[in-house]
Amino acid sequence: MKVLTCLIAGTLFCAGLSIAHAQTGEEPAPSPEQFAKGANLFAHTCSHCHGPEMVNPGNFSFDLRKFPHDGRERFFNSVRNGKKAMPPWKDILHQDEIEAIWAYVRTGGVAPQ
Ligand code: HEC
Repeated sequence: MKVLTCLIAGTLFCAGLSIAHAQTGEEPAPSPEQFAKGANLFAHTCSHCHGPEMVNPGNFSFDLRKFPHDGRERFFNSVRNGKKAMPPWKDILHQDEIEAIWAYVRTGGVAPQ
């Protein structure tokens, strides 16, 4: 019984660690499908302010090519809740759609091989 409890506790500990890692560190490359979905969503929902392919059109919006690639938490927070002149997206985009856009942004728009 003790062994079983240890095993379960150990597994939970590891799961917790990998989630913590995903929230702070650089993440593994996304799948080509996820990247493509993110690029497509970006083109339709973000590019009129942030520029096609994240090339800043020289307006007041943030240059997303400079967004830190390990900034998952900040990205989700800003996108979900909005920031200053940027509207919130949480009622418009699903979590998995924001996840796909994050896959696109954190790779700097460079498709995975
Ligand atoms: C109506 C124009 C507009 C649209 C559409 C828009 N943004 Fe923004 N976005 C802005 C502006 C303006 C800022 C700069 C906010 C500030 O002053 O800090 C910004 C900032 C950001 C930031 C940086 C926030 C930070 O933490 O500094 C991210 C990330 C971002 N936008 C992602 C997106 C994504 C993803 C989409 C598409 C779902 C999107 N934006 C659509 C206007 C827009």
